[in-house]
Amino acid sequence: MFLMLPYPFSQQETAKYYFLCLRRISGRITNMNEARETAAEYFKRSVKHQLKCYEKLIERLPFRDTDHVFELGCGTAEMSSRLATEIVPNGQVTACDPEESRVRFAMDKFSNIPNLRFIHATGSAALENKADLYDVIVSNAVLHWIEGGELEKTMVNMFNALKSGGIAAHNFNVGIPEAYRLLSSLEEGKLNEYLKIRYVMEEEKFASLCREVGFSILDAGKSEHATECETEEELLKLLDATSYGLFGWEKLFNDAKDKRLTVKFSQSDDGKVQHVATVATFILKKPT
Ligand SMILES: C[S@@+](CC[C@H](N)C(=O)[O-])C[C@H]1O[C@@H](n2cnc3c(N)ncnc32)[C@H](O)[C@@H]1O
Repeated sequence: MFLMLPYPFSQQETAKYYFLCLRRISGRITNMNEARETAAEYFKRSVKHQLKCYEKLIERLPFRDTDHVFELGCGTAEMSSRLATEIVPNGQVTACDPEESRVRFAMDKFSNIPNLRFIHATGSAALENKADLYDVIVSNAVLHWIEGGELEKTMVNMFNALKSGGIAAHNFNVGIPEAYRLLSSLEEGKLNEYLKIRYVMEEEKFASLCREVGFSILDAGKSEHATECETEEELLKLLDATSYGLFGWEKLFNDAKDKRLTVKFSQSDDGKVQHVATVATFILKKPT
């Protein structure tokens, strides 16, 4: 069952999929119920943090309440549900994600919203052969999980799937976020393991890709985004939830304490532990 891939995944995604399967087989995620719990954990721990950044992007976009919106990489779909019920109540939202447990979780939780539908697929597969269909395409914290060739395909399919004059808007991380730098001081090879499943994207390169594909860049900028938690333990659990439990953050940090290594997250002005990432925001338009 693990060896069947339902969608045309890229080589990198296939590697990531098998890597996840191996972790499942090796006991990190022992069965599908547990995988579902991982999605629930992701929802519980991460959503309020992810939404902070996402809301700022959504507020800036000129939605009409009848728009057809496509959301790329919806995760557990809190924003998809808000888009459907609050932003385009007379329109439609189509949301995709390749991570099965998250899509299942979202389908169960939001099955009562009639103008919201989910596709279990990567962005490029869900947008393949679609033309002039969507008014707006959005994503938050997704594009840095997509490797170069697949990202190009995703952007081309996105351009084609938008209506003329349509808007695409994306937040994604640039550089290596603070907490992941700490990985390398804890365990040799862990940062490399992380970089195998996540890509360090430069905003200039992304801007060139957008122009090559045909988009006009309406706005582009960068900002620091701090994820704050009351305790270190809470932050470690959040990092675990957002990286599919692959790195065992809590164990890693406890082992470090045993070895008397001091690894400290930075602190916000009011004394909370925080993890800082640089977020690039791009607002693009398909020319009329
Ligand atoms: C950090 S989560 C963000 C989820 C959601 N957008 C949010 O802000 O809460 C990144 C999501 O991107 C999804 N993802 C990874 N590769 C993707 C791809 N090629 N196309 C679409 N989504 C992808 C992951 O499965 C994951 O759910």
